[in-house]
Amino acid sequence: MARVESIYVCQSCGGVQAKWAGRCDACGSWNTLQEETPSAPLGTSASKAKPASARRSKMNWVDLGSQTEDPPRYQTGISELDRVCGGGIVPGSALLVGGDPGIGKSTLLLQVVAKLAQNGAKAVYVSGEEANDQVRRRAKRLGLADAPVALASETALSTILDGLKAEQPDIAIIDSVQTLWSDQLAAAPGTVAQVRACAQELVRFAKKRNTAIILVGHVTKDGQIAGPRVVEHMVDGVLYFEGERGHQFRILRAVKNRFGPTDEIGVFEMSDLGLREVENPSALFLDGRGGDASGAAVFAGMEGTRPVLTEIQALVAPAAFGTPRRAVVGWDSGRLAMVLAVLEARCGLNFGGRDVYLNVAGGFKINEPAADLAVAAALVSSLFDSPLPRDSVVFGELSLSGDVRPVGRTELRLKESAKLGFTQAFAPAGIEQDTLRIYGIDTIRALVEQLDRGQSRDDDA
Ligand code: TYD
Ligand code: MG
Repeated sequence: MARVESIYVCQSCGGVQAKWAGRCDACGSWNTLQEETPSAPLGTSASKAKPASARRSKMNWVDLGSQTEDPPRYQTGISELDRVCGGGIVPGSALLVGGDPGIGKSTLLLQVVAKLAQNGAKAVYVSGEEANDQVRRRAKRLGLADAPVALASETALSTILDGLKAEQPDIAIIDSVQTLWSDQLAAAPGTVAQVRACAQELVRFAKKRNTAIILVGHVTKDGQIAGPRVVEHMVDGVLYFEGERGHQFRILRAVKNRFGPTDEIGVFEMSDLGLREVENPSALFLDGRGGDASGAAVFAGMEGTRPVLTEIQALVAPAAFGTPRRAVVGWDSGRLAMVLAVLEARCGLNFGGRDVYLNVAGGFKINEPAADLAVAAALVSSLFDSPLPRDSVVFGELSLSGDVRPVGRTELRLKESAKLGFTQAFAPAGIEQDTLRIYGIDTIRALVEQLDRGQSRDDDA
């Protein structure tokens, strides 16, 4: 008999190595390699072997242009969620909902499954983390106790699959994928091998039985907890539920969607009665905005199809000693370094001996390059101690040459800004409209000059 060779699987990235080492070759993490004995692929063990005839199926070619209707969808009626999914949950699809432990995934999905059940779908909720009583108590607290959801507390994959086969639900929530274990593997629950194998089986089940399956996965900001990452490529959609612990709102973000657009977000507010939809996120993020302090700029951003306004705050202060600090919350630190370098090289400003802190208010995360100009404006405003006009918004992408490039969906950004009471915008040059007063900014130097003028006006006053 052939010797069974062990393999070593990185618990962080899922990378496989033939030999143990202290550091994973693939992702560079330390002490993450764990020994695993490869077993026969799932479903091929003697007890499960299918007759040859069942295994061999005939290839069925079709035209690329064949008529295909848009998939039907289960609508939850929670419009923030339906939009993120591209209009609702597609039957037979598999979704992964990831997020930090304690961020509110179980609460959200219990609300989702209850809504679907109330709308007539056959829905089940399998919890591997909480006992039935705990889930029931939560449902009662959320006012959902009478929703016809079948509930089970189980972690054994084979039992869950049998249960799903018997119940034949339209939609099933599996909370969480890290608690599942398959008896076909020796590895412990939560290891990459178990998570991958269990997710694979559930995804296969979803397709075969036309049951929409939502897998819950815990991840941490730095991706420390193993598992969900290796599931991402198997599922049809990946949604991340994020937010800062100290803040009331939560964001559901689609990072992959085979049945709709990505980059769409849903905004929720936490309450005693669970997650509430936020229809106007800009108002929420701008709520409690301070007075005429320098270093703040309102960025007119886009999240998917929706404009979202957020405040970007910068503080440039003399460095106490040693290397100046650069700290960023809610934006990319590499991008901050770039904006600082452009300001130094193209406008002769000096941030060298100064600490720079950048914060997106409310704990929101911005990924858009269109925020470059708003970040630059906040930095320069703090450096000059010259506030931007309180009723102004900023957007535009910065190139290394110092030019400001136009960004997409200008009209929507301006319309939303006007709706929220803003009257002027620092924006890439060449925009023609009459909702707001526009300062056309073609280079970063033009922005600095504008702010400098603002400062001298203040000095004169
Ligand atoms: P939970 O849904 O259990 O988080 P996760 O499944 O991501 O680990 O929520 C964590 C805690 O927060 C839980 O005690 C319930 C509470 N919570 C509320 O009280 N209101 C809310 O709107 C949410 C989302 C959570
Ligand atoms: Mg949970």
